[in-house]
Amino acid sequence: MVAELSTKLVAQVEQAAKLLRSAKQVCILSGAGISAESGIPTFRDKQTGLWENFSAEDLASPTAFARDPKLVWSWYQWRRELVQDKAPNPAHRALAKWQQGLALKNLASKQRLTLITQNVDDLHEQAGSEAIHLHGHLWRNRCSQCDSVFVESSANNEETKNAVEKIKRFSDELIACPQCGGYIRPDIVWFGESLPVEAWQQAEEAAANCEVFISIGTSSLVYPAAGLAQLAKQNGAKIIEINPNPTPSTVVDITLAAKAGAVMPLLVSTLEQSKS
Ligand code: APR
Repeated sequence: MVAELSTKLVAQVEQAAKLLRSAKQVCILSGAGISAESGIPTFRDKQTGLWENFSAEDLASPTAFARDPKLVWSWYQWRRELVQDKAPNPAHRALAKWQQGLALKNLASKQRLTLITQNVDDLHEQAGSEAIHLHGHLWRNRCSQCDSVFVESSANNEETKNAVEKIKRFSDELIACPQCGGYIRPDIVWFGESLPVEAWQQAEEAAANCEVFISIGTSSLVYPAAGLAQLAKQNGAKIIEINPNPTPSTVVDITLAAKAGAVMPLLVSTLEQSKS
């Protein structure tokens, strides 16, 4: 992987590691790009197959669900099927190693690392990280009408058991809420909806108090998440961006323009080597 990186980039990673070594609080925001190398398409990628004529913005909204619940539910069931066998890649694993402080004992005792993600997959958790999810969870469901959580353990009658089975088989059949009969929807924050209050408060606090903020694999287009880097900057943090493509962010101090799966392992091993 390191061989893929230019000398300039390796020097920039050293520079980033220097900033990180002295930071007591680090805040990391990940986006769809960190899961791209696990085989999960990002939101700005053109959709394929059955869904090639739809954009994520047209499907991930309460209006779209109200207009055509079956279409939106089918899309999420398709996404679930696509994501179900995907595994963490070297970027998720390097981050987890850093967060767990396994190889960075000297550093970890002095450093607090908060990981915030816009992703609804659970690849950070699969890698062993703890992450604050701003946009919800692909594998959870709730009622679109009464908001009650729809969990497998609530399957105490035949009808609900059948519904759980349908979800697991990625069937596109709509499911009725056992409490009120409304349609079950994925527990995901759609365009135009508010972020979960507690997750957002934790994210703002971590961004406002960090000395270094790292943005990994996000287009920085979707607010309020995209505003976290600005909040960090206003409070004096240095901003590092890891993305092979340019973004509209104007607050970045160090751009590591390569894939997260190549940069993160190098960054973490550079930190590891510097046991200060
Ligand atoms: N490593 C790092 N970055 C990458 C990689 C990679 N291997 N591959 C792609 N990227 C970058 C792209 O260049 C792009 O800037 O990841 C970014 C993905 O952007 P988006 O698809 O817009 O994803 P994200 O920023 O997470 O989207 C934010 O929008 O649709 C909503 O709720 C959804 O959480 C999502 C939000």
